[in-house]
Amino acid sequence: MLPAVQAGGAKKDCSMTKILGISGSLRRASYNGALLRAATRLMPEDATLEVASIRGIPLYDGDVEAQGIPPSVSQLKEAIIAADGVLLVTPEYNNGIPGVFKNTIDWLSRPAADSRRVFGARRFAIIGASPGGFGTIMSQAAWLPVLRTLGAQVWFGGRLMVSRAANVFDESGALKDPTVEELLRQFLAGYVSFLRATPAPP
Ligand code: FNR
Repeated sequence: MLPAVQAGGAKKDCSMTKILGISGSLRRASYNGALLRAATRLMPEDATLEVASIRGIPLYDGDVEAQGIPPSVSQLKEAIIAADGVLLVTPEYNNGIPGVFKNTIDWLSRPAADSRRVFGARRFAIIGASPGGFGTIMSQAAWLPVLRTLGAQVWFGGRLMVSRAANVFDESGALKDPTVEELLRQFLAGYVSFLRATPAPP
């Protein structure tokens, strides 16, 4: 039996730790999508990784928000709230966060009165893949002030920056590099241990 997570002082059945993973790329052959898919099969026992998509999230527009939060945004919010942790799998564009991914998080933070319910003390982790030599180091760092602003927690116990991604995944998007596979497995194990050991948001 795994340790119970304390939620609002009450014991919650958490024999299964649930992580929601979100890739920040819309590309069919995305390395980050492939990394997230690989993560789903490398999860420790008694933990699951559900894949969520940013596809269908509209461009943020305050006029659209005034008409109501789009269903795709509301669904993603509820999926985050239902998860024990959120794994962001981020590409890097121009040394920063890709607009489509940031756009999604911006929508999820609206309306501001609901942002705390979605992000407050929620336990995030960040990984990413890029064909270049630095493996998304800059975009991973660029997420930190965003998550801090939203009041989220970030797990810093591990880092995974997958560089030279063209050599790491095969043509079908399967992870073929055993070293990266082991690093990913260790990252996930560490993150799940952290989720089990720290309190969930109230
Ligand atoms: C990139 N790429 C890129 N890579 C990187 O490591 N650092 C960077 O600053 C950038 N900048 C950048 C800007 C723009 C506009 C594009 C389209 C691309 C390359 C990027 O890592 C590559 O396209 C990845 O394949 C994107 O991730 P997915 O779609 O494979 O998950």
